[in-house]
Amino acid sequence: MNDERSLATNLIHGRKDAERSLVHPIYQTVAFSVDENEDYTELNEYDAERYFYTRYSNPTIRNVEKKLAALEGGEAALLFSSGMNAITMTLLKLLKSGDTIVASRAVYGSTLHYIEDFLPNYGIQPVILSEDELYRCDEIAPEAKVVFFETPVNPRVDCLSIPQVVAAARRCGALTIIDNTFATPINQTPREFGVDLIIHSVTKYIGGHADVTAGAVITDEDLIVPLYEARKMLGGIPSPQDAFLIDRSLKSLPLRMKLHNENALQLARFFEDEAPVKEVLYPGLESSSQHEVAKQQMKGFGGMLCVDLGSLSAAQTFSESLALLRNVPHLGAAETMVCLPALTSHARFSEEQLVAAGLSPGLVRISVGLEEIDDLIADCRQALQKIANGID
Ligand SMILES: Cc1ncc(COP(=O)(O)O)c(C=O)c1O
Repeated sequence: MNDERSLATNLIHGRKDAERSLVHPIYQTVAFSVDENEDYTELNEYDAERYFYTRYSNPTIRNVEKKLAALEGGEAALLFSSGMNAITMTLLKLLKSGDTIVASRAVYGSTLHYIEDFLPNYGIQPVILSEDELYRCDEIAPEAKVVFFETPVNPRVDCLSIPQVVAAARRCGALTIIDNTFATPINQTPREFGVDLIIHSVTKYIGGHADVTAGAVITDEDLIVPLYEARKMLGGIPSPQDAFLIDRSLKSLPLRMKLHNENALQLARFFEDEAPVKEVLYPGLESSSQHEVAKQQMKGFGGMLCVDLGSLSAAQTFSESLALLRNVPHLGAAETMVCLPALTSHARFSEEQLVAAGLSPGLVRISVGLEEIDDLIADCRQALQKIANGID
């Protein structure tokens, strides 16, 4: 990375390889040879100057890791084979039997499932807290070793105050881990607020084209080394092909996020004036209850929003009447996608549980893509019209 150049420029111009290839090549190899056996003394070192075995490290993968570390303002980064792999391996390595983990209740469903139901099998005690409780987690679980949270939160895009979580965690000496997937490092850099480890589902905006599954952890060198050891042993490194696709995607990440942010704000404003819409949830709207917190920690408000259409049947009519927008349980790609949390991520919730979680059965989550905004509005307008016409 060249410190005198902007981040956007560095994302495009990575390190030059030996052959000066314009695009960083795919080192599609399992292993690298040595000339002298003495070279093997570096075999197990995280920052070895040379490569030995791709399950340990690989130049195509390391090129992406350097860019991700710079993006988040961390000292080092590691790529993993999925977002869940990054989360599960990090927690497994940082915690041991007898430790306590505090986690926000408002995290991605599989993350919560892992922390609540899987970690106790290894003697790790989960303490799951609401937003208000998280800000005073030092009083509730002073023995906590790790505090795990996510903001903006899936699917309601609620924003937790990063400085408040960090302050409470520091009062009990716990490490903080944030899932920064929804915001991306273009819109939010939690290291500025003192968060220790940043995790991404690279599968979403960073990959950005719905064609690669990967995860990442960004932190300090002293924390990366044990995570590197864990990845080497448990085998969670992605393929060089996938790293190549991520490198391609990083070149356009700043540009893509700018358009995701702009399109989402315009679509949110459109929905605000439409009669069948009971509520629009988007932290970029001045009317949003999340706007003040978001403004203090986000540089852009992201591409995710929700609309409450009042009932599950209205949400179904809307999603099934769309001609351009696709009904997909994914987010963060060029294509605009909708999904109904009541039928997907929260399908196991009863109606009462949905209400308790602030999730109206009529909620539609929208991952706003990169299409021309007029086309998105036109499609949403005609689908809303079907609700007004009572067409199921
Ligand atoms: C916020 C968040 N974190 C983590 C994950 C898990 O990522 P992956 O699907 O890459 O394992 C997801 C997946 O949807 C997510 O939305």
